Amino acid sequence: MEVVIAPGPQLARLAADAVGALLSRRPDAVLGLATGSSPLALYDELARRHAEEGLSFARARGFLLDEYVGLPADHPERYRAVIDRELVSRVDLDPDAVQGPDGTAEDLPAACRRYEEAIAAAGGVDLQVLGIGTDGHVAFNEPGSSLASRTRVKTLTEQTRQDNARFFDGDAEAVPQHVLTQGLGTILAARHLVLLATGRAKAEAVHHLVEGAVSALWPATVLQMHPHVTVLVDEAAASRL
Ligand code: GLP
Repeated sequence: MEVVIAPGPQLARLAADAVGALLSRRPDAVLGLATGSSPLALYDELARRHAEEGLSFARARGFLLDEYVGLPADHPERYRAVIDRELVSRVDLDPDAVQGPDGTAEDLPAACRRYEEAIAAAGGVDLQVLGIGTDGHVAFNEPGSSLASRTRVKTLTEQTRQDNARFFDGDAEAVPQHVLTQGLGTILAARHLVLLATGRAKAEAVHHLVEGAVSALWPATVLQMHPHVTVLVDEAAASRL
C-alpha cells in the first residue's frame, strides 16, 4: 500500500496522473468510478485535461461502485445521474459504455448477478477509484460486510444516511435505506485501487485503513490484502497516522 500525504489539489492531480497513464497505455481501459464528494476534484481535473490536453476516454469503459435502491430513474442523486453529471458529460466517455448496478430492478439479486457478469465480461476493472466512509465503508460495504463479498443488496447504517443527508437537502430520512454495492471481493479484483480521502472526519477511518487490523468491522482494512493500492490523503485525513 502506497500512502501519499499532500494538499487536496495535488491529490486530484496524482489520481488524474494514474488515470492518464493507464489510458495512454490502454485506451480501452476499464475504469471503476466512485461517487461521493471525495473524487469530485479528480473528475474536475480529468475534465480539464480532456478539454485542455486532449485526454481521451473515447474507448474507455466504466463501472460504478454502487447505487441506491428505489430512487426514481430521473432522480438527480441516483449515482448513475451523479456520474453522468460529474464526469461522463464533461469528457468523451460514451454513456453507453458506463454501467452501474440497477437499483430500479424488480429482481435485485438478479441485477447484482448480472452486474458481476458484466464486469467479468469487460475483463475486470483496471483502475478503481475509491472514497472511504467515516465508519470505514468502501462503496456501500458497511461494517460487518464479508471481506469476500460480491455485488449484493445492503442496508445503510444510520451513520451513512446521516453522512449522505447533505445530498438530500439535509434530510437523512430521504436517503434510501437500501443500496446495491459491489462487494469487497469485487473491489479487490480490480487491478489498481486508488483511494482518496480528505478532511479530519476521515482520520479515524484512514488510521484503520492503513494501520489497523484487517477486520470486517472496518471494511476498508481489506485493502491491505491487495497488491496495488494507492492511498491519497491530505494532512487532516492523515492526522491519526
Ligand atoms: C458514500 C459512497 C462511497 C463513498 C463514501 C464517502 O456513501 N457510497 O462510495 O466513498 O460514502 O463519501 P464522501 O466521499 O462523500 O465522503
